[in-house]
Amino acid sequence: MDVVIGCVGGGSNFAGLSFPFVADKIHGADITIIPVEPTSCPTLTRGPFVYDHGDTARMTPLLPMHSLGHAFVPAPIHAGGLRYHGMAPLVSQATVEGLLAPRAVHQLRCYESAVTWARIEGFIPAPETAHAIAVVIDEANKAREEGKEKVILFSWSGHGLMDLSGYDSYFQGKLSDFALPEEDLRRGLEPIKDLPKPSTAKTGKW
Ligand SMILES: Cc1ncc(COP(=O)(O)O)c(C=O)c1O
Repeated sequence: MDVVIGCVGGGSNFAGLSFPFVADKIHGADITIIPVEPTSCPTLTRGPFVYDHGDTARMTPLLPMHSLGHAFVPAPIHAGGLRYHGMAPLVSQATVEGLLAPRAVHQLRCYESAVTWARIEGFIPAPETAHAIAVVIDEANKAREEGKEKVILFSWSGHGLMDLSGYDSYFQGKLSDFALPEEDLRRGLEPIKDLPKPSTAKTGKW
């Protein structure tokens, strides 16, 4: 295995697929493991590693996680399953450890990749899954440019048959990209700024 890819909302479909390969990586395997999120909800790529609640109502205990703040409300993109403020503690810790290489992808690029997939493979991905597909395409193109043969595994997290209105909007040119403004990031983190901070020290070398 060379590259493992999955979209991340809360982290469960990604962790289910990738954690066996994270174990291989800890034991020396050369594998690139990429969680993919939307630029509008960039929990792993721009959110700090903090203690936060897992829910807006603050019912959960404080957990160490990458977070945009439990009160954060992301832009209304179509990948609704990726609009979560936090990330699973183990996915967050593996990111702190440098075992994962998170990326954020814009909405239009996701739909473009999903349409490419549907035209070639004959079935329709969910907008969430399209985030993973966009990075699969990037990694396949990179391998081709480098003249390397790579095995790329990704999580097909769901079909897009409930999301045809999103595809319709895409084809009508009604969708847009949205990158979270710095000011919104700062505002989201305000309510948790005084909470204790977890250690960001790495526990191993990989
Ligand atoms: C199709 C699809 N993929 C991925 C996800 C992301 O969830 P998680 O990161 O918790 O696996 C969702 C969440 O609703 C989803 O509907």
